[in-house]
Amino acid sequence: MALLVKNGRIITATDDLLADIYVEDQTITAVGTGLKADASAEVIDATGKLVFPGFIDPHVHIYLPFMGTFAKDNYETASKAALVGGTTTLIEMCCPSRAESPLEAFELWRSKADRLAAVDYSFHMGVTKFDEGTEKQLREIVSRGISSFKVFLAYQGAFGIDDEELFRTLKLAKELGVIVTAHCENATAIAQLQNQLIAAGKTGPEFHEPSRPESVETEGVHHLMTFAELTGAHVYVVHTSCDGAVQAAQAARYRGVNAWIETVIPYLVLDKTYAEKENFEGAKYVMSPPIRDRKNQPVLWDAIRNRLISTVATDHAPFDFASQKSKGVDDFTKIPNGIPSVEDRVNLLYTHGVATGRIDLNTFVDAASTQAAKLFGLYPRKGTIQVGSDADLVIYDPEYRGTISARTQQMAVDYSAFEGWEIKGRPSVVTVRGEVQVRDGQFVGTVGRGQFLARKPNHF
Ligand code: URP
Ligand code: ZN
Ligand code: ZN
Repeated sequence: MALLVKNGRIITATDDLLADIYVEDQTITAVGTGLKADASAEVIDATGKLVFPGFIDPHVHIYLPFMGTFAKDNYETASKAALVGGTTTLIEMCCPSRAESPLEAFELWRSKADRLAAVDYSFHMGVTKFDEGTEKQLREIVSRGISSFKVFLAYQGAFGIDDEELFRTLKLAKELGVIVTAHCENATAIAQLQNQLIAAGKTGPEFHEPSRPESVETEGVHHLMTFAELTGAHVYVVHTSCDGAVQAAQAARYRGVNAWIETVIPYLVLDKTYAEKENFEGAKYVMSPPIRDRKNQPVLWDAIRNRLISTVATDHAPFDFASQKSKGVDDFTKIPNGIPSVEDRVNLLYTHGVATGRIDLNTFVDAASTQAAKLFGLYPRKGTIQVGSDADLVIYDPEYRGTISARTQQMAVDYSAFEGWEIKGRPSVVTVRGEVQVRDGQFVGTVGRGQFLARKPNHF
């Protein structure tokens, strides 16, 4: 069915115009003023609203076996949460254990999405071991539409790889034109600091941050940059939390390394005092790298505004407070790491970024949609509003006022890290390939309609 969105203020990463959008067969077929619709077309009046391209979250975990448990969402709950929050495309981390075959893991992760996704989706393929066998399978996975890898320099004994594996992964990625996303923290230093703190009886969630201080992350970024420089690979630092880490990546870019930086919404709005909350409440705020001293926030916001940070993702990783975070009640190293936020990213970025004047509307779209599409081989199908793009549209009401609460959220988790926080603005209508999935904050879409997005290597 055709769809006409009339009189909206269309915002892309570069443009700001009052116009109509016409959609036929899932695709934008016209952008202009005074567009006329077929009698059968649905017409949405977007007067007074902002019209954004569907937002893309390039860093989420949905199916995640991790720290002795599993993340809580499935593709149905995560899709609903994402869509209600304006996110129409997810790129999930496919994270096999070292013992699993990459191809089997890839098929397993795909099967989790196949029948339940309402968003469109792809995966970053986790490389958690590298040998001849994995190399062959990684080549096959790339030929099946995956153009990004994920490596962990942290999580020793779980997802983490050693330096030989890192070097060989980056070399393969360079050859294939694949970008490598990386969790950068020095695993050895973390293990030592964790041992010291626990031995000293410092077992609460407030000691998670001191066990992974800023220097440990900065060193991790520097380490990745050295290997990227040696191999010529294109790298993307995920969940950058602090000034030192941004500077390490920027210094590498200055000397010609092909590096991009992601931050995630928790670092922009939360600080380490949340992990110090009493009665173990701080566990709700344990993620890695940890939420940091407040002084880092203006640095991150400035870097988004200057477009030194390319993307704002979530690192959505939902673990229940009562039954899962509680595993670490006597030992912070056992608290499953992660803060759920796929539902809240866009509204928090708008409220704390655009509405406060920290970033403008074009930068908002660039960081939350366009850059992810460009870096991960989805542009211009996704990430913008132009003729030929998928009709993923977010009709956003900037006048809406409401509060975030676990009681009303779609995410399948028993708390919100942003409980009671005010939001200024929210999506009133969200479409995926021309079909309305959200109306007035409610999911009205079709579970299982989401498509796997086969991507081609960028070769930049
Ligand atoms: O704390 C986090 N970040 N949990 C999810 C796994 C990861 O490191 O991305
Ligand atoms: Zn990570
Ligand atoms: Zn992650």
